[in-house]
Amino acid sequence: MLYDQLFVSMERARWDLSRDIDFDAIEPARLTPRWIDTVREVCAFQLASLRASEMFLGGFRTDVDFCSFVSVWFYEEMEHHLVLRKYLEHLGEALEETELPRLRVSPDEAPAIDALTLRFFGEQRLAQRYAALAATVPERVLGRIFTILAAGEGRHAAAYATYLRRAVERHPAALPGVLRLGLWTMRGADEPAADTGRAPAPLREDRHYIRRMQGLYRLLAPDATIVVEEELPALRPAAAGAL
Ligand SMILES: [Fe+2]
Repeated sequence: MLYDQLFVSMERARWDLSRDIDFDAIEPARLTPRWIDTVREVCAFQLASLRASEMFLGGFRTDVDFCSFVSVWFYEEMEHHLVLRKYLEHLGEALEETELPRLRVSPDEAPAIDALTLRFFGEQRLAQRYAALAATVPERVLGRIFTILAAGEGRHAAAYATYLRRAVERHPAALPGVLRLGLWTMRGADEPAADTGRAPAPLREDRHYIRRMQGLYRLLAPDATIVVEEELPALRPAAAGAL
């Protein structure tokens, strides 16, 4: 089972909330109210793993391997939530337990493989966001926390990639749907228009997206031949829509 190796590798990379974060060294004067709002927002956002775990355990109920992995992922996401909640407590900005249900972000229900795909991209986006926050935050302890969180989300993305690849190996017919969802995610749409009936979101200019799509294709179907290697066509919505 993939879980067996992932458990060990994630255990080796684990950090210690009590030992690795020096909460007494926090310098509150370095933080603006906007930074404190950001910490509150990220702390609340981590609660999205509550609903996501529920969906995964239901949607993948026959996949004991993946459900076992969800236990580790859920633990680590809640540790992210806890470290930020403790940070806020040290600032005198504690989140009350009674506030938490209202702050819970609950992702919409999605078919199992779509949920896996969105999670894979979501973890990458979070890793990038936390790394950017770590690079710009003026307070050293918070910088360390965001650095740890970014590394954790990066590991999660890698773990989800292994399950996504296995899902495509088992169900090759799912590959076009996974790639389509990946394309929409990379190009800035919140949701695929086909699922919402709404007009597509404006395309974000990203001249690297074709290479990123090739990378995703290689990841999911490593034995397939990539036809376009060097001469990349210009970004054309019609061509992208036909993917
Ligand atoms: Fe994560």
